[in-house]
Amino acid sequence: MQAYLLDFTNFMLRWLHVIAAIAWIGESIYFVMLDNSLRQPKAAEDREKGVFGEMWAVHGGGFYHNQKYASAPGKLPEDLHWSFWKAYTTWLTGFGLFVILYMVNPSFYLVNPGSDWAWAANMSGWQANVVALVFLLAGWVVYNELCKRISPDMQRDGLLSIAVAVMMVVVAYLSSQIFSGRAAFLLTGAVMATAMSANVFFWIIPGQRRMVTAMKAGETPNPLDGKRGKQRSVHNTYFTLPVVLLMISNHYSFAYSHELAWVIMSLFIFAGALIRQYFVLMHAGHRRPAYPAAGVALILVAFWIAAPVGGGQATDTASVAPDIEEVHAIVETRCVTCHSREPTQPGFNAPPAGMAYDTREQLQTQQAKIKEVVASGYMPLGNMTGMTDEERAIIAAWEE
Ligand code: HEC
Repeated sequence: MQAYLLDFTNFMLRWLHVIAAIAWIGESIYFVMLDNSLRQPKAAEDREKGVFGEMWAVHGGGFYHNQKYASAPGKLPEDLHWSFWKAYTTWLTGFGLFVILYMVNPSFYLVNPGSDWAWAANMSGWQANVVALVFLLAGWVVYNELCKRISPDMQRDGLLSIAVAVMMVVVAYLSSQIFSGRAAFLLTGAVMATAMSANVFFWIIPGQRRMVTAMKAGETPNPLDGKRGKQRSVHNTYFTLPVVLLMISNHYSFAYSHELAWVIMSLFIFAGALIRQYFVLMHAGHRRPAYPAAGVALILVAFWIAAPVGGGQATDTASVAPDIEEVHAIVETRCVTCHSREPTQPGFNAPPAGMAYDTREQLQTQQAKIKEVVASGYMPLGNMTGMTDEERAIIAAWEE
């Protein structure tokens, strides 16, 4: 019952998470597009009113006329539209998912028994949970300090973006050293996603509140509030595509179980940011195909790094292709405790990922996937069943 409850909660949280994220990111992409598409207002009276830019659009059978005021537009209307719940809901449901997916079973999901760092390889479950939370928090603190120290008055935003890029490579490296591959991808994405939501919570919204309060009091708002909101929201734009990629990476063990997973992750992060840059510039009227081309080039490098080395390598211990009985015997002892219609591993009440290996037929149909996850070391999960290198070599030599 408890496992079912967790599964069901997971299902519903994931639904809400994806919906909130679509709404948030959609709106964020929309506003960046709007901001970059603004043109000088045509009517002189608009310019006199303080309109700084305008955009005409056609959508859903109607015509829209957006106008942006850089500073106080005379009197603010009462029904000002604010955006923050989408960001908060995305973070809260994402964190909830992390808790029930990873933190309930940290020894399986967070710990990286193959880590080069002994302390990480030997973490207990609760230690891994604490380390994961500290990792997330530290990600935000470091990012926030970089912004505050390098470009406090938004004068050195170029240098700041380089610093944030370097920071993300370090995050990718540390996470893949400390945590299991899947968790490393997720936590690297979560560091960026946390920075995005925290930017909204700690800077963008409070800054806007101060601006509105000042305007209502008939004072001139501090321009730094507006500029800082913009700085953080620009960062959020470049985080968006990489975050989505890392969040959907959980089934692609060829990427996250690779020994160079951190390089692969970094390449994807930069590819996402470069592709985003194309759209940002495009809306401002510049077409720069070199950006997405560079993004695709980085993805191809990732493809090349992650590509399996020579299919079904034969090693000393398994130079002859094993027969299905031999494979079946290994799977029976190392996998079937979990991957069965009736798993015997505590905490499992259905075959994980819907994969059951009770029959030889199931083994045959899943062959490619089994070889992949065994070769990458992702399965058996956390090597709970103690699979040996010889057994891995036998699975690798199993012929297609
Ligand atoms: C301790 C339990 C456990 C053992 C033992 C185990 N697995 Fe898994 N396996 C899981 C869980 C949990 C998942 C789901 C993880 C996920 O959502 O990616 C999974 C997922 C998979 C997937 C799907 C991966 C994906 O990304 O879609 C494959 C394939 C797989 N296991 C194969 C194996 C093989 C082959 C073995 C034996 C060598 C094995 N597993 C041993 C728990 C286990």
